[in-house]
Amino acid sequence: MKSNSKIAFLFVMIGAYYVYLPIPGEIEQKWKLMITDSFFRSLSHLADLSELLGLKDYMGVMMFITVAEKVVPVTDKRVWVTEEVFDGVDMVVYQPGQQGGAWELRRAVIYLHGGGWCLGSSRMEPYDLLARKMVVELNAVVISVEYRLAPAHPFPVPFEDVYRGVRYFLQGRVLARYSVDPDRIAVSGDSAGGNLAAAVAQKLQQEPDQQVALKAQALLYPVLQALDLNTPSYQQNQDMPILPRTLMVRFWSEYFTSDKTLFRAMMTNSHNSAQSAHLLKFVNWSSYLPESFRGTYRYSAPEAPAVSGGLDLSRTFQAIMDPRASPLLAADRSLRFLPKAYILTCEYDVLRDDGVMYATRLSRAGVNVTHRHYGNGFHGALMFTVWPADFQIAHRMTDDYVSWLRENL
Ligand SMILES: *[C@@H]1O[C@H](CO)[C@@H](O)[C@H](O)[C@H]1NC(C)=O
Ligand SMILES: *[C@@H]1O[C@H](CO)[C@@H](O)[C@H](O)[C@H]1NC(C)=O
Repeated sequence: MKSNSKIAFLFVMIGAYYVYLPIPGEIEQKWKLMITDSFFRSLSHLADLSELLGLKDYMGVMMFITVAEKVVPVTDKRVWVTEEVFDGVDMVVYQPGQQGGAWELRRAVIYLHGGGWCLGSSRMEPYDLLARKMVVELNAVVISVEYRLAPAHPFPVPFEDVYRGVRYFLQGRVLARYSVDPDRIAVSGDSAGGNLAAAVAQKLQQEPDQQVALKAQALLYPVLQALDLNTPSYQQNQDMPILPRTLMVRFWSEYFTSDKTLFRAMMTNSHNSAQSAHLLKFVNWSSYLPESFRGTYRYSAPEAPAVSGGLDLSRTFQAIMDPRASPLLAADRSLRFLPKAYILTCEYDVLRDDGVMYATRLSRAGVNVTHRHYGNGFHGALMFTVWPADFQIAHRMTDDYVSWLRENL
């Protein structure tokens, strides 16, 4: 860790060069956010350079953040931690330490970490701390899924890992082993983890032989669709800290393929095809965003390019249209019986409108939705609970999320 912090310090020094980025007035602790963001931007430039020079690919360099924040999850007085394998999928399992009360059935939260399907780990310190908090405050068992990552393991591998692990856990005999109440299980995740959580909730209720159902889903600034990467929030926040539009487009494209043609097409929002035209109605922000979010932006449907530029992305098109990748593309009838939802969105986040549109679609389908919008929030805020990059908003968000679970799970 010592040498890691030295390297981190070095990055911050280099990063000071990039520090100045206009940040909206409402955002708290502006300077701290600028400095934190300069670190991410410097790393991203370094990653670009490294890929250009053929040293290491972009995501390989970006993994530095994940590695630097990794901890070994340990058992302490209050939380009992084990590393397990559920049907071939690695899990970190957190249980309340008081074994005396284990005859009493407990809640469970299945947690999926963020990182654009390419980065992140359940063993990063902020996720470890969040899991512990849920164990202690909710007397819950937390299952943190260590799914495999793109680009080495592109879609649908991350989804399938998660799904396989979840199906294994939801068996009666497995739940009994952890003293989990089958009527009080939630799936949750942030960012790309929110995408996986929403997709898991949809897929599970389509299984004819699924005995145990989820009680709740909690989606924290989730990514939900890849068809329109020019929603008002993508436009408004394209240069916002932590997740600029370029990086989100990069995550999306690498989730499907390392072929840069897709990245370039997505950057200009010209990656749709004739086959996806009938799905655009599900991401039509002019009908799913309340006026306050539409602002002065004018809707124009993403168009399919007249010529495909000679690229053969037919398999990729299939993946982009798959609700397991873009849960917002599910038809209304697939939404109707979904578990109640908590959806957190941030104003200064390219993904804001994904979350807002899903909240609208779910409530119109009759699902009980709690939508929490943070007017001064930025993407990834929940991760910033650890000094020196700790933000007050992260603690407020965490507290609200955990108290929703307390009342609804
Ligand atoms: C989007 O929604 C608006 C308003 O509801 C409608 O006029 C327009 O035709 C829709 N476009 C698409 C592509 O669904
Ligand atoms: C939705 O959830 C809230 C909070 O749990 C509850 O008070 C309300 O009755 C629910 N509404 C419906 C329609 O189930």
